[in-house]
Amino acid sequence: MKSPKPLVEIVSTGRFLPDRVVTNSEFESTIDTTDQWIVERTGIKERRHLGDQTDVAGMGISSAGIAMERAGVEAGEIDIIIVSTATPDYLLPSTSCYIQAALGASNAMTFDISAACSGWLHGLTMAEGYLSVGHGETALVIATEQLTAITNWEDRSTCVLFGDGSGSAVLKKSDGSRGILGTHHGSDGNLSGLLHRKSGGAAVPIDEKNVGNKDDKIKMSGREVFKNAVQRMSESATLALDRSGLNAEDIDLLIPHQANFRIIESTARYSGIPMEKVFVNVDRYGNMSSASIPVAMDEALEQGRLSPGMNILAVAFGAGLNWSAVAIRW
Ligand code: ACO
Repeated sequence: MKSPKPLVEIVSTGRFLPDRVVTNSEFESTIDTTDQWIVERTGIKERRHLGDQTDVAGMGISSAGIAMERAGVEAGEIDIIIVSTATPDYLLPSTSCYIQAALGASNAMTFDISAACSGWLHGLTMAEGYLSVGHGETALVIATEQLTAITNWEDRSTCVLFGDGSGSAVLKKSDGSRGILGTHHGSDGNLSGLLHRKSGGAAVPIDEKNVGNKDDKIKMSGREVFKNAVQRMSESATLALDRSGLNAEDIDLLIPHQANFRIIESTARYSGIPMEKVFVNVDRYGNMSSASIPVAMDEALEQGRLSPGMNILAVAFGAGLNWSAVAIRW
């Protein structure tokens, strides 16, 4: 099958990572774990913690500012700002409003999306939709996540996994030679209990009791999430490739969600993509939820692993459960 003509392209990216590096050995004094266990089971060696350096919007403003500068785009030219975050600074209004105000993007319409680790890929597809039906010329898709704000530091099966950070991209209409070729997104809400944060919403407002129970923090059934992640990301990769008129052999670079090195390896194997074509930085940042893929994309560009003409595939998986894949001609 011939590839469809891309309607929308990524013209630039940017990233922000907090300064504070937390190594595995720092956890050895607070919980029953070892550097060896964390590296063997997850591939993570260190991650970034935001602390009070800035806030979730602040990280997004920084990564977006870099992407805008690289694209040569002024704030007033932005028509759409989509922000993916599972850890907004405030529940109302959306984080995107604070980012819009700080950037001075007064002509943009803004909203947040909640699709956990898949959120930034959903954002790309939504921006593609808006731009291709004529809702403006330029979009900013931002992922900004402070997982440490919702981490239970006594739960060794989750607290070693997560990190903070932000990644952004500027999207514009394409001349048809490069851009988004095909996408796939799926969900299974029946499995919402595998990865959730029980209190903090309208149903269970945060009070003394659920703070004591740590119900305001992430809880995860790691093994079940692991199995679903591999299966769903491989399926989604295949479906996005089909819609793009591509085969696994056509892919020059796979950028998977960075949650666990073993998940990345299995997903690549089931998708038929060799590890030398897979971008990995989970060792340095852990799982930054939806910020993982744009940060990885930005690093891949900087390292020369991603260059014009390449076919790339980004795949993600997270709470929901939600999964996504987006194929792009760079
Ligand atoms: N140090 C030492 N031991 C640990 C640690 C730790 N940090 N964490 C768990 N263990 C123990 C468990 O308690 C268990 O001990 P037990 O056998 O005595 O009960 C043992 O290790 C094995 O536990 P499992 O959960 O079976 O270990 P597994 O190999 O599955 O690894 C992990 C756990 C790393 C969490 C893995 O399941 C995983 O990565 N899951 C997927 C996570 C993911 O991809 N999330 C993506 C979405 S995130 C989002 O949406 C925000």
